[in-house]
Amino acid sequence: MGIGEAFAREYARRGNDLVLVARSEDRLLVLARELRSRYGISVQVCTEDLSDAASPERIYEHCRSNGIVIDILVNCAGLSRAGEFREMPLEKLEEIVAVNMLASARLARLFLPDMNAAGSGGIINVASLGGMQGVPGLALYSATKSFMITLSEALHMEVKNHGVNVLAVCPGFIDTGFLERTGHDASVIRLPVYSADKVVRAAIKGFEKNRIRVFPTLLDALLAFSQRFVSRKVAIMLSGYFAGIVKR
Ligand SMILES: NC(=O)c1ccc[n+]([C@@H]2O[C@H](COP(=O)([O-])OP(=O)(O)OC[C@H]3O[C@@H](n4cnc5c(N)ncnc54)[C@H](OP(=O)(O)O)[C@@H]3O)[C@@H](O)[C@H]2O)c1
Repeated sequence: MGIGEAFAREYARRGNDLVLVARSEDRLLVLARELRSRYGISVQVCTEDLSDAASPERIYEHCRSNGIVIDILVNCAGLSRAGEFREMPLEKLEEIVAVNMLASARLARLFLPDMNAAGSGGIINVASLGGMQGVPGLALYSATKSFMITLSEALHMEVKNHGVNVLAVCPGFIDTGFLERTGHDASVIRLPVYSADKVVRAAIKGFEKNRIRVFPTLLDALLAFSQRFVSRKVAIMLSGYFAGIVKR
């Protein structure tokens, strides 16, 4: 669902075959059926829980044993929990790190060698504007998205001479239901909330131009760029103010 579904729809519209991954098999099957019949493409469904450390290898093995070559890996699955870090349940902390960081890194590690050998394709990592600095109220989430950004930056340089692209897309707040699922009251956010399609269009364009990082809107780009002119402390305080979670 959300940004991942928007990626699936856009790549399907462009005629790409797809492998869809998430936990909700019913939703995946409905989407796969719709995209197959509308665009005449092949759509495989791989129902996996990415918080399970073994799931990336099962996904890779599923593709390998079915003769599927992955040209573009979109690392999009992610979760968060709004609120002060000291109150976060430990199991939620483990889950956020497992999905947002470990699963993404494992998938990249598994699929990158084949892309490197083919001399084409690449990875789109869905990070966040929140990964540009710590965000009070979203401390662990923003740390996992910083990880996504720095991992993407280093991988981009490691593979760029092999015809492989690696991009981090850094959206602001997106209207997908993600905020409600994380317990983040959208009415306290002091930034515009925009659509998943904007993220997807900007990410694919940036990927095709082999950019390292992409900020989907002008405001996202301005917020990221403006960090150069303020102290780190001010950048962190402002990010907390925009998120609106921690009141003080
Ligand atoms: N929405 C925003 O404001 C925003 C802003 C910046 C960045 N992002 C990032 O964009 C990405 C997508 O966010 P979204 O807004 O599209 O969120 P979403 O609507 O909540 O969708 C999250 C997707 O990840 C899948 N997923 C979650 N946990 C999973 C697990 N353990 N195993 C397998 N799949 C899992 C979900 O499917 P199942 O539940 O079926 O597994 C769902 O398809 C995330 O990485 C998020 O951090 C979002």
